[in-house]
Amino acid sequence: MRVYDIIAKKRDGYELSEEEISYLIRGYVKNEIPDYQMAAFLMAVYFQGMTEKETLFMTNEVAHSGDMADLSPIEGIKVDKHSTGGVGDKTTLIVAPIVASCGVKVAKMSGRGLGHTGGTVDKLESIPGYKTSLSREEFFKVVNETGLSVIGQSGNLTPADKKMYALRDVTATVDSIPLIAVSIMSKKLAAGSDCILLDVKTGSGAFMKSLEDSIALAEEMVKIGENAGRKTIALITDMDTPLGEAIGNSLEVKEAVDTLRGNGPKDLTTVCLHLAANMLVLGGVGSLEECLQKAETSLKDGSALERLIAMVEAQGGDSRVIRDTDCFEKAAYSHEVLARKDGIITSMDAQKCGIASVLLGAGRETKDSEVDFSAGIILHKKTGDFVCKGDVLATMYASKQEMFDAAEEEYYGAITIGNEKTERKPLLYARVSKEGVKRY
Ligand code: URA
Repeated sequence: MRVYDIIAKKRDGYELSEEEISYLIRGYVKNEIPDYQMAAFLMAVYFQGMTEKETLFMTNEVAHSGDMADLSPIEGIKVDKHSTGGVGDKTTLIVAPIVASCGVKVAKMSGRGLGHTGGTVDKLESIPGYKTSLSREEFFKVVNETGLSVIGQSGNLTPADKKMYALRDVTATVDSIPLIAVSIMSKKLAAGSDCILLDVKTGSGAFMKSLEDSIALAEEMVKIGENAGRKTIALITDMDTPLGEAIGNSLEVKEAVDTLRGNGPKDLTTVCLHLAANMLVLGGVGSLEECLQKAETSLKDGSALERLIAMVEAQGGDSRVIRDTDCFEKAAYSHEVLARKDGIITSMDAQKCGIASVLLGAGRETKDSEVDFSAGIILHKKTGDFVCKGDVLATMYASKQEMFDAAEEEYYGAITIGNEKTERKPLLYARVSKEGVKRY
C-alpha cells in the first residue's frame, strides 16, 4: 500500500477501504507517514468529504490509537456529555449533578479552555483544592460513591487525534464536518461511556456558525455513535449570545451553584434541564417528559446541588465555596461597562465577549498561558434588552486595572445597539437522534 495512492484516491472522490484508513492513521501515529502527506490527505477530505463508512472506520481507528477507557468497574449505565464549546458554557457543572442525582452515572473527562471558549477543567480548578487529575481507581471510587466525577483528560487517549488536530490547526482543515466528527467522536468512544449526549452549539460564538452545518455535524456524530454501539443523541443549542450571565471561571462556578439552587438565569436553566433530561432518556430513566420532570425536581429539592458538593469533597475541593459562593477569592479590580447610547441590544457577538474575557485573564491565549480564576465578566444586559445611555451593560473583573481598556473595546465591538425590537434567538433548535432530526 502507498500513501500517495490513498491521497490520490481521496482527492478523486473515491471511497477508501478500512485497510487504507487503518494504514494511514497507524503510519501517521508511528511517525512513518510525514506531516506533509497527512496534510494533503486532510485537504482532500476537506474538499471531497467522507462517506458514512469511511467516517466510522476513521473514528474507530483514531479511538484505538491510544488507551480505550474501561469503565466496567463503575456500576450501572454511564452517560457522557460533550459540548462543541462556547462562551459562558458551564452546563457540565449543572447537568452532571442533576443526572447523577436521578440515578445515572456520569464519569467524565473534560478539557481546558483555549481561544475564546472556556473549559470545564479550568472552572473546576477555581475551587480551592479540587483535583482534576485522579488515578483510575480514585476516579471509579468517586463515581461509584457520588454518582459522578469530572476530571481532566488522562492517560494516552487518542494520540492520533492530538497529532492530526495540531496539523489541521495550521493547514486550514479544522472546518471540515467529517474531520470534526471523527475528532470528537473518537475521544468519546475512547472515554468509555455507554451513551453520549452531544451539545452542538450554533451561532457567532460556536465552531459551527450556521444551523444547517450544526445539524449536519450532529447527524454525522449521532451516526458514528450509534454505529459504534453507543446510544447517542445531539441537541443543537444557541451560542449566538453567551449562555447565562457569567463568563470566567469562578464566576461561572458561582452561577452554576445559583442554577442548582433554582436561582439561575432562565436561558442557562432551560438548556441544562433539556441536556440533563436527554441524558436521563439515554440512561433508560423514562420518556423525555418524565425525565424533564425528574431533572426539575432535582433542582427544587436540592439533590443535584448535594451531588456537586459530594463530588467536590471527594476530589479534595473546599466545598465551603460551593455552600457559600461569596467565599471565592475576588478579583482585585472591577470595572463597569456603560452603554454609549439609548436603544435595544440587537445582537451580541459571543466570540467577541469570549475574547474580552480572555483579555481580562480568564482564558488562554496559548496552551501554556496562566488563567486568572477570578477574572471575567458579568453580563447585565443581553440581546433584546432596552438600554439607556449610561446603563451598566456589564461588570468586568481583573487583577490589573490596565487590562480593562482593551477588554472594554472588544466588548463594545461585540454589542450592537439599534432601534428595532429584537427577540433573542431560540435556545434549542433541534434534537438529532437515530430516529432523525426534530426541529423545535
Ligand atoms: N473539537 C474537537 O475536539 N475537534 C475538532 O475537530 C473540533 C472541535
